[in-house]
Amino acid sequence: MAKKIWNTNLEDSTSEISLFLSSEDIELDKFLLPYDIDATSAHINALNNIGVLKKSELSKLSRSLRKLKKEYLAGEFKLSEEYEDCHSAIEFYLTEAHGDLGKKVHTGRSRNDQVAVAMRLFAKEKLKELNGLNKDIACAFLDMAMKYENDPMPGYTHLQRAMPSSWGLWFSAYAESFIDNYDLIKATYDWIDSNPLGTAAGYGVNLPLDRESTKEELGFNRLQLNSMYVQNSRGKYETQILSTIKQPMMDIRKFSWDMSLFLSQEFNLLSIDKRYSTGSSIMPNKHNPDVIEIMRANYSIIAGYASELENLISLPSGYHRDLQLTKRGLVRGFNTALTTLSILPDLIYSIKVNKEQSIKFIDDDMKMTDRVYELVSKGMAFRDAYNKIKNSKSDGQEVSSKLINSSSGSPGNLNLKNLKKRLKKQK
Ligand code: ARG
Repeated sequence: MAKKIWNTNLEDSTSEISLFLSSEDIELDKFLLPYDIDATSAHINALNNIGVLKKSELSKLSRSLRKLKKEYLAGEFKLSEEYEDCHSAIEFYLTEAHGDLGKKVHTGRSRNDQVAVAMRLFAKEKLKELNGLNKDIACAFLDMAMKYENDPMPGYTHLQRAMPSSWGLWFSAYAESFIDNYDLIKATYDWIDSNPLGTAAGYGVNLPLDRESTKEELGFNRLQLNSMYVQNSRGKYETQILSTIKQPMMDIRKFSWDMSLFLSQEFNLLSIDKRYSTGSSIMPNKHNPDVIEIMRANYSIIAGYASELENLISLPSGYHRDLQLTKRGLVRGFNTALTTLSILPDLIYSIKVNKEQSIKFIDDDMKMTDRVYELVSKGMAFRDAYNKIKNSKSDGQEVSSKLINSSSGSPGNLNLKNLKKRLKKQK
C-alpha cells in the first residue's frame, strides 16, 4: 500500500483502490520528479523570504533536496509504488531526514500547484529539445536541397505526372516546413512560460507567498496570476503543446509517405541506408522500409493523445482528479515525438537520388506547360497558347530550358539563401 501524506488512517484504503487511483501515475511521475525537486527548492527559498523557514532550516532542507536529486539521477533513489506520487516521495524523504522540519515543506502549497509547476518545467525543457531536433531536421533537408538543387525530379499532382521538378524543390519544401515549425514551437514555449507555483489548491493560502521569487528562480517569464486559472489551464496548455508537436509529426507523416512510394520498386527514385530497412521472415527478396512506416504511424499515436486530452478536460472549474490523466498524453506524446524526430537527421543525410530514373520519368507530356510558356514568352495570350499546345500532339521537341520556372521558390530558382537566413536566426 502506498504511503500517503494525507492519510492518518492507513486502514482506510485498500491497495486495489490505491492502485486504481494512481494507475500509471508513478511511472509518469518518474519524468517529473527532478522538476518537482527544483520547484520545491524554489518554494522553500520563497518560504524563507517571508519568514516561514529560518535560514538554518532552509540550508538543511536545500542540502537534502540537492542530495535527493543527485541520488535520483544516479538511480540510487527509486520512485516506487511505495509512494502515492512524486510529490509525496519528496515530503517523505525530507521528513525521514529532518523529522518535523520536513513536514514544513508543504506550507503554502498543494499538490495541485506542485504538479502544475513540475509539468510546466518538464514541458518547457521538452519543447526546447523538440526545437533543437526540429532545427537539426531543417538543416538536414536544406543541406540535401543544396546538394541536389538542380537535379531533375518528376513533379506530381494527384500522384499523376505533372511537370518537371527538382529534388532541390522536394528537399527544401520540407526544410521550409520545419523552419516554420520552429517559430510555432517557440510561440508555444512563450505561451506556457508562466509560473503556477504559489496558487495552492486553486484558491491561494493565507500567506503572502513570494511568487515573484519562485518565478525568477525557476526561470519563468511571467506569473500565471489567477489561482483558479492555474487549475483551469491544466489540459488547456497540454492541448496546445500536443497540437504543436503534431505539426512536425505531420510533416514526418508526409515525408514517410513520399519515401515509402519513392523507395518502392515501382518508383525506384530514392534509396536510403540499409540500416533503416528490415527483411522479411518469409520472402528472402524483401527490404522493407519499416523505420519509415513506424515514423508515419507515430503521428496517429500523438493525435490519439491529443484527442484524449481534449476529451479529458470537459470539466467544471477548479481541480478534479481527472486532470491527473492529462499527464499521460503529454509525457508519452513528447517521448514518442522526440524519439521519432531524433531518427530523422541521419536518415535524411543517407538518402540517395536515382538520377537516371528521375530523368527517365520526365516524359514529353510533362513539358507541355513549359511549352505553353514558351509561346507566352513570344507574346501569345496564355489561353490561346494553352489550347494550341493541348490540341497539338506532343512533337517530341525539347523545350529550350530545363528547369526554367523563374518565380522565386520554384525549381530553377529555389532561393535557398532565403531559407538559410531564416534558419540562421533560429537559436
Ligand atoms: N497526481 C495528481 C495529479 O496529477 C496530483 C494532485 C493531487 N491532488 C489532489 N487534490 N488529489 O493531478
